[in-house]
Amino acid sequence: METQKTEQLNRGEFLRSLGMSSAALMAFYCMGTLTSCSKDSSSDPTPTPTPGTGTGTGTLDLTASGNSALKTEGGYIYNGSMIVARVKGGSYVALSRACTHQGTNVQYRLTQNDFYCPNHGSEFSPTGAVEVGPAGTPLTLYKTALSSDGNTLTITT
Ligand code: FES
Repeated sequence: METQKTEQLNRGEFLRSLGMSSAALMAFYCMGTLTSCSKDSSSDPTPTPTPGTGTGTGTLDLTASGNSALKTEGGYIYNGSMIVARVKGGSYVALSRACTHQGTNVQYRLTQNDFYCPNHGSEFSPTGAVEVGPAGTPLTLYKTALSSDGNTLTITT
């Protein structure tokens, strides 16, 4: 009898502790939800591509592993303040990478053949022109020239 009473008390304590744990878990769940919601709406969800080996204008060694994304149509790298992409059709495009709306890094999208800002949805053509706002100013277009052996991309203003 004494043992059974002790067991009941222990079970009660156990259930109470579960109740507190559930409440605590719920609180953490809610906080996590709120945190992720606010983070999603204000942070840059841009995946980080492999940074290129260059720093901007100049030559880009296309054989370097850091630039390997440029071997594939649709691939792109960030190269200093610019984005360099191998666009639809296989040519190379270099544009300023900061969206002219609020500075988020743009991404190249092969299917749409455009440069997309994941922050508020601006879209730019491969020449840098604004196709969809809220950005109102084009991206800066740089000149690109591929070496005859296809191993070096020269980027100039
Ligand atoms: S920062 Fe690019 S659309 Fe707003």
